[in-house]
Amino acid sequence: MNYNESNTETTAKQSTATRINELLAKMTLQEKIGQMSQFANRTEITDDFREAIRQGKVGSILNEVDEEKLKELQRIARKESRLGIPIIIGRDVIHGFQTMMPIPLGQAASWNPELIEKGARVAAIEAASSGIHWTFAPMIDISRDPRWGRIAETLGEDSYLTSVLGNAMIKGFQGDDLSKSDSIAACAKHFAGYGYSEAGKDYAYVNISENELRNVVLPPFKAAVDANVATFMAAFSDINGVPASGNEFLMKNILRDEWNYDGFVVSDWDSVIQLITHGFSENEKEAAFEAVNAGVDMEMASHTYLHNLENLVESGRIPMEKIDQCVSNILKVKFDLGLFDKPDFDKIEFPEKGNNDFLQTAKQAALESIVLLKNDYNKLPLEKNNIKDLAIIGPLADDGFEQMGTWTFDGKEEWCQTPLQAIKEMVGEDVNIHVARGMETTRSKVKDKYFEEAVEAAKKSDTVIFFLGEEAILSGEAHCRADIDLPGYQNELLEEISKLGKSTVLVIMAGRPLTLSQTEHFVNAMLFAWHPGTMGGPAIADILFGKEYPSGKLPVTFPKMVGQIPIYYNQRNSGKPATYDSFIHIDDIEPRAGQTSVGNTSFHLDAGFEPQYPFGFGLSYGHFVYHNIWLSEGVIEMGGSIEIYAQLTNNGRFDSIEIAQLYIRDLVGNVTRPIKELKGFQRVHLHVGETKTICFHLHTDDLAFYNRHMKLVTEPGQFEVWVGGNSDATLRTSFYIK
Ligand code: GLC
Repeated sequence: MNYNESNTETTAKQSTATRINELLAKMTLQEKIGQMSQFANRTEITDDFREAIRQGKVGSILNEVDEEKLKELQRIARKESRLGIPIIIGRDVIHGFQTMMPIPLGQAASWNPELIEKGARVAAIEAASSGIHWTFAPMIDISRDPRWGRIAETLGEDSYLTSVLGNAMIKGFQGDDLSKSDSIAACAKHFAGYGYSEAGKDYAYVNISENELRNVVLPPFKAAVDANVATFMAAFSDINGVPASGNEFLMKNILRDEWNYDGFVVSDWDSVIQLITHGFSENEKEAAFEAVNAGVDMEMASHTYLHNLENLVESGRIPMEKIDQCVSNILKVKFDLGLFDKPDFDKIEFPEKGNNDFLQTAKQAALESIVLLKNDYNKLPLEKNNIKDLAIIGPLADDGFEQMGTWTFDGKEEWCQTPLQAIKEMVGEDVNIHVARGMETTRSKVKDKYFEEAVEAAKKSDTVIFFLGEEAILSGEAHCRADIDLPGYQNELLEEISKLGKSTVLVIMAGRPLTLSQTEHFVNAMLFAWHPGTMGGPAIADILFGKEYPSGKLPVTFPKMVGQIPIYYNQRNSGKPATYDSFIHIDDIEPRAGQTSVGNTSFHLDAGFEPQYPFGFGLSYGHFVYHNIWLSEGVIEMGGSIEIYAQLTNNGRFDSIEIAQLYIRDLVGNVTRPIKELKGFQRVHLHVGETKTICFHLHTDDLAFYNRHMKLVTEPGQFEVWVGGNSDATLRTSFYIK
């Protein structure tokens, strides 16, 4: 940055700080508390609510998207209240506003930060053009529990990948200048540890060590601070006995004192008043006290601040300085957004929502999110000239609502293009298509006419494409499942039709990893499309028929069975790790086997110790071989860097993209370290027969972790390093840090 820019930036910061202080000096305590209060949408705008705005009691509104209502409310705030402080308008714009990208977990499968940033940019433009200033995204919770419905909103199980992709979303939402009319403030949520909810049940207790918090859960949030995320959201969760919305260690010690964060923190919906339900606060006044004292600047939905802060300040329990700091944090974001300076509802010439460019971005996002899990006999891509009769079976073949997935408040179903529509368009009159819903809903349990019709459609066909999985409602907030098989009788239908000896392809739409160890035996090929959003249909059709190729890689581990959870790639070794020769499967145990005859290492008798599909896994239409790994040097000084090289060859039948991944292992640490850690990835396009040399760069700082004294350190010693196409990479070498 040149001197002038930094000088300008300093001036801007000084002017904002000056403007905040000048405004604060004029504000009454009631007006300050009003800035700290966010109101949930009102179906109709009452006179009482208008009056509350006039009195400066409403600092923010969420979930109102009617442009006329927003205009009126903002006009009242700007023109009829004493100080004219603008309202900041919030909305859950999680994976699109009206043009829907895949769910975040699906976007994460693209491992493409540039594309994710582009998708968030589309969302920001569409939301801003409706008067939205602030989205409650990205959700950068780490989760290793697919029972948890909100894993759909995460960017997966890995801190490094979540940090890179979460920052891409923040950049997409906020643009390069928050004050621009098509920028919206982002929100790093849910701070922190929400993804560790016990038993994968939403809102449940979170028991997490500080070491795990600092080494796994917090890094994406620290990355968000470094990316200048405008706001944070406190989680619902009870973290080790102290609910996040009253947790001074998180909100003050970590966020403010260690990270020097200068944005504002909003509670989650009612998470302040829920401090009473937690049994953490006796009443609303105590809940308000704990939340403000911990550092929650703005209260969402509940109004304990509005009802109690005046008394808490006047009684001396909360100093005015604390209130001033909360209000300053909020006003800073409003100034940064330009809300004081630009016209209340500056409808600059926004591009049309759902325009073709936006739809193409949604299609590309869907394309790169799709993961090829199985492709026996190279069944895919399908060749339409080899198909005479094609059965399209499943309730998700032609349902735009379902394919948009969870957190789709404003998504336009009518813009959705479904797989059935896209396949019909692609194969035209050349193929007889036999459509069967197969079940009333994805949860149907009792075999009915739908089941029989599907079997009949399959009998008439030489190729069958299934569109099965989860309806959108089966994932997302509070939608957790204890059994994560395909719901209902889906597996029975697959098994029945598998007996017909047809070519079978299964496309799964879901909001979470599913247990597919039974399912995968019933089909020749399997694509996992998550909930792919508005353009899921054309994306899936292009991959099925070879116009495009699958490149997605799993951002989360797929267990064989739910009893393995939590199962994830970057686990600790334990003192007795399982190996192939150290366990016997339950079905292979001899009768009256001796106590120690089946091995004493870390595995399940009935599941072994490996997942169904590991983190980073995804097949392609190419066939990639990694070979010849080498290093720039084998020994590096602390503070130095190293280059890791490997060669990659595509000896498959098709040109393709491979997402090459770099993993390391710190063999000995002041605390035990994971057996593998993702530290880099890159997209490599290879023509058939082509070989490329790829290079990764590592600095010793990239190997830092929090030790038993909670100090961030890189330690000397031996490190293993792998390059490969998933976390089971085997191409390995090692280096030393002196
Ligand atoms: C919800 C969610 C949070 C969301 C907020 C506003 O309960 O936990 O992620 O942003 O309330 O809808």
